[in-house]
Amino acid sequence: MGVAVITGAGSGMGRATAELYLSRDWTVIAVDVAPNPGIESNNLHWVIADVRNRQVLEVALGPIVAKTGGQIDAVANIAGVFPPTTLETFTEENFRFIFDVNVLGVLNVTAVCVPFMQSGSAVVNFASVDGFTVSRGQLLYGASKSAVIMITKSLALELAPKGIRVNGIAPGWVATPGNAATGRMEEAAKSIPIGRVAQPAEIAEWVWILSDPTKAGFVDGETIVLSGADVMR
Ligand SMILES: NC(=O)c1ccc[n+]([C@@H]2O[C@H](COP(=O)([O-])OP(=O)(O)OC[C@H]3O[C@@H](n4cnc5c(N)ncnc54)[C@H](O)[C@@H]3O)[C@@H](O)[C@H]2O)c1
Repeated sequence: MGVAVITGAGSGMGRATAELYLSRDWTVIAVDVAPNPGIESNNLHWVIADVRNRQVLEVALGPIVAKTGGQIDAVANIAGVFPPTTLETFTEENFRFIFDVNVLGVLNVTAVCVPFMQSGSAVVNFASVDGFTVSRGQLLYGASKSAVIMITKSLALELAPKGIRVNGIAPGWVATPGNAATGRMEEAAKSIPIGRVAQPAEIAEWVWILSDPTKAGFVDGETIVLSGADVMR
């Protein structure tokens, strides 16, 4: 049992991850711009905050961490945005939006949480297969997720002396509400070698594994691709 800070817990893989940690009797501090979608638990602390705003995170998280025992054992940086962009459609505004949420958000949350972390604790950042291989129409999203992969390596190096591991997950197609809404999931599944998309709960299980020093104590600075053999590197 421990304390996990999970961003993006309002939907998709963030929600599945929060539910998994709660089901294993952890305390979860959920951070999302959206309200709790209906996860019920006495061990859940819901913080409505934007990961782009470090000051707000500091003010919001400090007192909750103090109340829950003063330490953080796992951080899952899952909040992310993925609007399509091309050279033709990108603007300075959507550049800032995508990079600020996906990249600055990871840095802000990690920086605010690290003072409460100790040897054996871990950070798990959400990248994407689009950070490794190019995806049509995802000019800025792919670049932001490549940045997450490199930040994961740098932070692993920086935090190794404290005994804090930092790893990443790069999902391929996952059955999240956003993907379901595109109506393209069945078609996508046909092109995936193992013949299906992933369920959010099985991705959440990898957050659990990577954050557990007894299972993944020697995995550090790595971003694991979970794509059903769709993307191999
Ligand atoms: N869905 C996929 O197939 C897929 C594939 C590869 C990678 N990813 C990545 O995995 C992560 C989760 O994806 P998902 O599909 O489950 O997402 P989702 O859209 O279902 O949920 C994202 C959550 O993040 C929250 N959020 C957005 N901006 C925020 C901000 N500025 N501050 C705080 N919270 C914010 C949203 O309110 C939402 O609850 C993202 O980082 C995404 O880029 C998703």
